[in-house]
Amino acid sequence: MEKILIVDQDEINLLVIEMVLKEIGYDVATITSFENCINELSSKQYELLLLGLDVSQENSFKLVEKIRANPDISEVKIIFLVSNNVKVDIANAYRLGALDFIKKPTLPEEIIQKVRDAIRKKKKDTILVVDDEPANLLTFNNLLGIGYNVKTASSGREALDMIREKRPDLLLLDLHMPEMDGFQVMNYLSEIDECENLPVIVVTADDDLDTAAELFQAGAMDYLSKPLVMQIAIQRIRRIIELTHLQRDLKAEVKQKNKELMLTNKRLQSLSDQTIFALAVAIDAKDSYTNGHSRRVAQYAREIAKRMGKTLSEQKDIFNVALLHDVGKIAIPEGIIDKPGKLTPVEYEIIKSHTTRGYDILKTISVMPMLYIGARWHHERFDGNGYPDGKKGTEIPEIARIICVADCYDAMSSDRSYRKALPQETVRGEIENGLGTQFDPEIGRIMLEMIDEDTEYKMRSKVDR
Ligand SMILES: [Fe+2]
Repeated sequence: MEKILIVDQDEINLLVIEMVLKEIGYDVATITSFENCINELSSKQYELLLLGLDVSQENSFKLVEKIRANPDISEVKIIFLVSNNVKVDIANAYRLGALDFIKKPTLPEEIIQKVRDAIRKKKKDTILVVDDEPANLLTFNNLLGIGYNVKTASSGREALDMIREKRPDLLLLDLHMPEMDGFQVMNYLSEIDECENLPVIVVTADDDLDTAAELFQAGAMDYLSKPLVMQIAIQRIRRIIELTHLQRDLKAEVKQKNKELMLTNKRLQSLSDQTIFALAVAIDAKDSYTNGHSRRVAQYAREIAKRMGKTLSEQKDIFNVALLHDVGKIAIPEGIIDKPGKLTPVEYEIIKSHTTRGYDILKTISVMPMLYIGARWHHERFDGNGYPDGKKGTEIPEIARIICVADCYDAMSSDRSYRKALPQETVRGEIENGLGTQFDPEIGRIMLEMIDEDTEYKMRSKVDR
């Protein structure tokens, strides 16, 4: 775990922050004197220094300058601990590479968040300064050099070459340069894929609103007016870099959340598929003779749907609805379902009630409302003489008309409790006779087409998922 050193003269504050950070697993050391800070930093590999800013700030800043000048410890990340009544020289703090400020006293959550953010920050941000005036390059280098990795280019062309080689985190671009001016550089940048969202701050002496508008139009995120007020320049640069990081982190987070959501959806989908399938197996197990009936009907229904031009997702829905079309049979006594002989009128009524019982079972599943449609109306006839509601023609939902044909085909082409499977010719004839009376003629014709292609009468044995 990362090592954190806290240096502050305020002992209570020291203790509080130490407790908070130890609680979440950081390796924390504390000292109260500035004099020992450099020795302590040199003794171990500290990742982060939380440094109290004294009232004059001078001692703290001097200490940081010494730290930055010492190659063994110059890379340590620094957050300043600031008392509420102290007005911080923020520009100077950033110039010295401060990552953030924690106000004292503060909430543990804020301490944790800021420390985590700082630890996560892996390297200094790179700023590419482009200016044809060597003196300006030197000024920026001196001012930004401690907190940032500063690179310089003396022309637009050189800058573009450097950017193609390695994308910086921010571009500080002089507007007026010979050969290629700032507008042209931004224009070229818009054509480089990797430079999408590269923040550009333009430095210009043209302090008029028209130029400002043109700069934003050309893709600049901000502009600094010459002569530069360095305190302002540094803070603007820093804010823009922070903003860019925030945007990038947000995008990464959204991407990650989407990925998680898709995975959850996939799991839920697969749970629902497996549940429906398990239920279909339970339905089929009720009648040993028609074992596999639901799965076969589902397969035939899906094939019909495919031939009707339904989308893959519609085909899947029809498959699932067909899998559960006989769910109401769970509520019918086995003695009646399995009865080898002829059913009495009362028993027949009980069998018929599997449609409404299935409907009752499935109607509460609001996320898949079409499930109950197949269960309730798959015994309706196209001529209106079916049950339970005597619906007619296209009053019967299409999904139920499809299942009706698939169901009857399977009933005839598989062994039942009271007879063997019928010959294919007979099955074909029954379907053909039923066109327009029992079955939707268009859907029935698709079934006939499937039968005609099945020259060896093998379709019924090819049941899989
Ligand atoms: Fe049925």
